[in-house]
Amino acid sequence: MERGDLIKVAEEIKKAKLIVALTGAGISTESGIPDFRSKDGIWSKFDMNEYGYIDNIISQPEKVWKMLKILIEDIAKAEPNNGHKAIAEMEKFGYLHAVITQNVDGLHQKAGSKNVIEIHGNFREARCLRCGRIYDIGYALKQEIPKCECGGLLKPNAIFFGEPIPKDVFIKSFSMVEKCDVMLVVGTSAMVYPAAQFPIIAKQNGAKIIEINNEPSMISNIADYSLYGKAGEILPSLVKHLFF
Ligand code: APR
Repeated sequence: MERGDLIKVAEEIKKAKLIVALTGAGISTESGIPDFRSKDGIWSKFDMNEYGYIDNIISQPEKVWKMLKILIEDIAKAEPNNGHKAIAEMEKFGYLHAVITQNVDGLHQKAGSKNVIEIHGNFREARCLRCGRIYDIGYALKQEIPKCECGGLLKPNAIFFGEPIPKDVFIKSFSMVEKCDVMLVVGTSAMVYPAAQFPIIAKQNGAKIIEINNEPSMISNIADYSLYGKAGEILPSLVKHLFF
């Protein structure tokens, strides 16, 4: 990462009227939560085809909940890192207007971000697959195979492969994506749709795309600026350049 790039990126942000961040698991790795597709990521330990799909939890709830409980424990221990904090600070000072996150860890909100759209849901809650009732995740964690009072199977209130994104969440995200002048794309491999499409749509509508990732991703070819390195280091440096 060149200092000159940070200066240019800060200038783009200062000129912009609507700035949106799209974040992925890479922003939370420095908080101790593994991402999905890196060498030691979640899908290297648990086969995505056995654990990631809605059909998997329905057909083998005990097995999938065992894995989910490990992830939920990692999340419970985690604190926001300097990347989350920098994003919250940008919003506080009017340099960011929404965070669309694919993460279910709640760390953006814990860092102080207010306008957070959780496009893949969250792990704070569990939802009944039969009646739709929502519980605090603690209710589910007490049971081996978590069940609702109606007898239906509970799952975290997060999106599995094969499930649709709730319409209201999609519409809210899409309206920000279409209108933004700058999109920061942080810590995502941009391999999962529809989020992976957001930088492309933003670009088609004239937005500048700023990628912050520790390696090139699927959207590097459309990025106007690529800042490679740790999100927890780059974002605080960017904030400094915004203020001075
Ligand atoms: N700083 C910057 N980038 C990082 C860091 C870091 N500290 N740590 C990891 N990364 C990068 C990785 O190199 C990778 O490019 O973040 C990206 C994370 O990509 P994925 O593991 O694919 O995570 P994500 O893009 O959020 O996955 C999308 O896939 O299975 C699902 O539903 C799950 O929401 C998730 C979705």
